[in-house]
Amino acid sequence: MRRLDVNLGARGYPVLIGAGLLGDADDWAPQLGTRSLIVTSETVAGLYVDRVREALGKHPHAVHVLPDGDSAKSLDHVERIVSAALDAGVARDGTFIALGGGAVGDVTGFAAAVYQRGVGYIQAPTTLLAQLDSAVGGKTAVNHPLGKNLVGAFHQPRCVITDVDTLKTLPPRELRAGLAEAIKYALLEGESLFDRLDAMMPRLLEAEPEATTELVHRCCSIKARFVEHDETDHGERALLNLGHSFGHAIESAYAGKLLHGEAVAIGCVMAASLSRALGWLEPGLFGRIEGVFRAAGLPVGLPAPAPAAAEIIERMQRDKKVTDGVLKLVLLHRLGQAELTGDYPYAALVLTVREFVEAAG
Ligand SMILES: NC(=O)c1ccc[n+]([C@@H]2O[C@H](COP(=O)([O-])OP(=O)(O)OC[C@H]3O[C@@H](n4cnc5c(N)ncnc54)[C@H](O)[C@@H]3O)[C@@H](O)[C@H]2O)c1
Repeated sequence: MRRLDVNLGARGYPVLIGAGLLGDADDWAPQLGTRSLIVTSETVAGLYVDRVREALGKHPHAVHVLPDGDSAKSLDHVERIVSAALDAGVARDGTFIALGGGAVGDVTGFAAAVYQRGVGYIQAPTTLLAQLDSAVGGKTAVNHPLGKNLVGAFHQPRCVITDVDTLKTLPPRELRAGLAEAIKYALLEGESLFDRLDAMMPRLLEAEPEATTELVHRCCSIKARFVEHDETDHGERALLNLGHSFGHAIESAYAGKLLHGEAVAIGCVMAASLSRALGWLEPGLFGRIEGVFRAAGLPVGLPAPAPAAAEIIERMQRDKKVTDGVLKLVLLHRLGQAELTGDYPYAALVLTVREFVEAAG
């Protein structure tokens, strides 16, 4: 097992990563309050809830099951979680346990932030994306009919218990989508993680526990560093959005046909392509970036039929990163050197999007 600490003073917490942790009573015991509510989703409940219940032993707890996927991220489901916690007698010294992917983590964390003005919660992530990214950092949210993650709070978990064995049951497409976020971390971190990721790719695609533990540990350490410097996302944490301004626009334009990680993969390649067009990107790097996404089995271009370029750009303009009409993008210079900037010619952005739309045919 590997451990890292997110150092945020009184809000700091450990992240435990390894094989078989869900069933280990010793990992759970120190983190639990008087009574707990396990919140999970249908598929994950069928696979893992008994293991966690067994590890909790005599600790009083109840289980609340959400639908799978992003439909659980709604204010309606927050109310249902709150009702389940009240029914179960969870008090202010109780704990919510988020057992599932990023969607379960986000809605459970938000419910914990508002339940009786805030209770502690534990993240027990079961997708690669949640393990190496969303379970750490305290961003919680639900969606609104007008957009994703529009209602939320910063609320750090009490701890993160990451059992990499759970990835064995994850559909391969979801596993690859998680790898997109890992590649994004490698682009931000530099050569050593980029090369290591490339070398470990075949083992990662098999969800091999040792390789996965190493990767999750490295990505969470990078994220912890960003969060420690900028907990509420007013500065350098924004670099973690590399590929996301393009990615969010693409994800919504394809209306559910692309997973978040797939859209982020295409978004990172588009950000790299724009960086190259501006003459910022180190020669030869674009091909290496495309190559690592391909090796992970991820898309590097827009699938046909592509939406109109104008639609993608319009969706990008609705991004949270637009200030005074200027869309700030995370662009790359070299591995380990990215920049959040609005200082680029708008025509170059339009041209890049057009090129990707035309290439889709
Ligand atoms: N809070 C943050 O910092 C942050 C960061 C990135 C993404 N997110 C959010 O995370 C969400 C996406 O998370 P995700 O990619 O984990 O998707 P997800 O939570 O929708 O899970 C994907 C699917 O996999 C299933 N599943 C989960 N674990 C499984 C397992 N071990 N075996 C079999 N099936 C399993 C789920 O039931 C679901 O159907 C989005 O809502 C996104 O906004 C949040």
